Amino acid sequence: MAGAMLGRWLAAGLDPARARVVRPSGRPVAQGVRVESVLGAAPPPGALCLLGFKPQQLGTIAPAIAPHLVDVPLVSILAGATTARLRDHFPGAGPILRCMPNLPVAIGEGVCALYAAHDAGEPARNAVAALMRPLGLVEWLDDEAQFDLVTALSGSGPAFAYRFIDALASAAARLGLEPDQARRLALATVNGAAQLAARDTRPPAALAEAVASPGGMTRRGLDVLDADDRLVTLLADMLRATRDRGRALNS
Ligand SMILES: NC(=O)c1ccc[n+]([C@@H]2O[C@H](COP(=O)([O-])OP(=O)(O)OC[C@H]3O[C@@H](n4cnc5c(N)ncnc54)[C@H](OP(=O)(O)O)[C@@H]3O)[C@@H](O)[C@H]2O)c1
Repeated sequence: MAGAMLGRWLAAGLDPARARVVRPSGRPVAQGVRVESVLGAAPPPGALCLLGFKPQQLGTIAPAIAPHLVDVPLVSILAGATTARLRDHFPGAGPILRCMPNLPVAIGEGVCALYAAHDAGEPARNAVAALMRPLGLVEWLDDEAQFDLVTALSGSGPAFAYRFIDALASAAARLGLEPDQARRLALATVNGAAQLAARDTRPPAALAEAVASPGGMTRRGLDVLDADDRLVTLLADMLRATRDRGRALNS
């Protein structure tokens, strides 16, 4: 995930010499970006540190790097790791902020949900928001308790969208369409519909109504999705299960 973010920053004009990556494998990341296998010294003044390892690694990695991150602003993309927990692990760090990105950040079409701990001032908030802007939509959360739900919605969301496209294609194939053709049609339809919706001021519910004339074909299909509120009920179950799994993994 951090690699996808860095890829987009570079594509948007970040000077590779200003980025430094620490990863145990030491594998190269991009032309001109310095890669180290351990954080052996403090970053230069004015730098911020993005934490991009797995949440389960927090307890083992933090003791090794915290001494080098005194007064350094931290941005964590670790799902489920609260700012209070991060502060416990990085007591001397600068302001701590959380960011929940999703994979389309790689093409500047992602979502970054942001939350700043109370001790993070305006300059840190503005700097992090400006950093995330080239990645896509930036949304601030006022309540950290909502972070797990937002992680389920937009962090995991691309997987759900892929599953929907696949299910649409599989359903069409089941009814007789050639599977590869069904996949192409389903993907292009969802892609085009999402792009059109993003350019329209009307909400998606109104756009659906606009496509469905009374007594027509589309209306009959929407009636199937809407019956007993079944689509919303299914998606609420999906989000609840995803959110609760995140909570369980971090408790
Ligand atoms: N995947 C998503 O869609 C998504 C979305 C939102 C947030 N996130 C968050 O992103 C984080 C990473 O997830 P991921 O899917 O990107 O996992 P990943 O592909 O396995 O990447 C984990 C990275 O952590 C590095 N790492 C491992 N041990 C380290 C250490 N001791 N010090 C520094 N770096 C270390 C790895 O380096 P090497 O490559 O050298 O092994 C690797 O680059 C998680 O906290 C997750 O919650 C992921």
